Amino acid sequence: MSDTLRISFEDKYGLQPDLIVSSPGRINLIGDHTDYNDGLVLPAAIDKHLELAFLRNDSEIVNVESRDFDQSFSCKHNIEVVEHDGWSSYLESVLVILGKHGHQIGGCDIVFGGNIPAGAGLSSSAALNCGLIFGIGKLFGLELSDLDVITMAQEAEHLIGLKCGIMDQFAVLHGKENCFIELDCRDLSFKLYSSDFAEHSIVLLDTRVKHKLTESAYNRRRQECEEVLTAIKSFDNTVTSVRDIQECHLDKAIDKVDPMSLRRVRYVLNENQRVTEAGKALLEKNYNRLGELLFESHKGLSEEYEVSCTESDFLVALAMENAHVIGARQMGGGFGGCIITIIKKGFE
Ligand code: GLA
Repeated sequence: MSDTLRISFEDKYGLQPDLIVSSPGRINLIGDHTDYNDGLVLPAAIDKHLELAFLRNDSEIVNVESRDFDQSFSCKHNIEVVEHDGWSSYLESVLVILGKHGHQIGGCDIVFGGNIPAGAGLSSSAALNCGLIFGIGKLFGLELSDLDVITMAQEAEHLIGLKCGIMDQFAVLHGKENCFIELDCRDLSFKLYSSDFAEHSIVLLDTRVKHKLTESAYNRRRQECEEVLTAIKSFDNTVTSVRDIQECHLDKAIDKVDPMSLRRVRYVLNENQRVTEAGKALLEKNYNRLGELLFESHKGLSEEYEVSCTESDFLVALAMENAHVIGARQMGGGFGGCIITIIKKGFE
């Protein structure tokens, strides 16, 4: 792909780019809606990716072309607010956040494109934000650490409305070939597991229901969890995040919060446990147990956390009836996008 990207760049700007950055999408085996609750996740970077080409242009202007949308956008490098919608808002947001952190940059020309389907739950937006920040950082010698890129990419997402956790950006920067990453989102410690399942394949099924997370109930779910946390902190100050909540806390909070919010938190606590168990199953190569955990996770996402949709529930129900599919669940932010399945090789 980088050859066609170079050609597009030269066609557009008449020069060769200085730098090409590749930024992957991600899947998540298990552990959804746990990251912003300081919990556990098990994502992997994938081969579907974006490529971004960069060159400094000695002006005040950042020009960017999206090959996939066949659209261009330009703005000053030192903007302080995001003014547009759509894909260009990601560039604007990244520039605002770089400025907010005091990073001095100048004008540059960018072309990007790739094969991560948008709205499918594969984190095309994290790939774009991370790719832009990483590339601009290199181009202007900003000496950003991986963690700088990760946290600024997350902040850029927050700025345009999605109060996401850190899983996607972490997977983009720390993904390793053929590995799942079990990440503790509280202290960012992680373990790697092989994604070679010998007799089973991981297959994604795209519901084609396009989720737009900022317009969905994603942020509301986060608020519901925070509401329970605040209530529990009022009588136990050793609890600092949803991660620390125990059954006894939930019993005591019953009269203080909406029962629906308690259900959300119960899901998060169970999902954290499932991630730990999934790590163990991966080590023991116990793929049948892993598959059961995926089905349990889906039940929680659908009935307790309520972030599934009819189409995802339908596909998971079909998967459960099929003897060759050992696990399936709604993946990522939810409300559509892909379901992730584990299928016996030869029956994919
Ligand atoms: C989106 C967010 C992530 C995470 C998942 C759900 O992908 O960007 O931070 O919360 O949803 O697990």
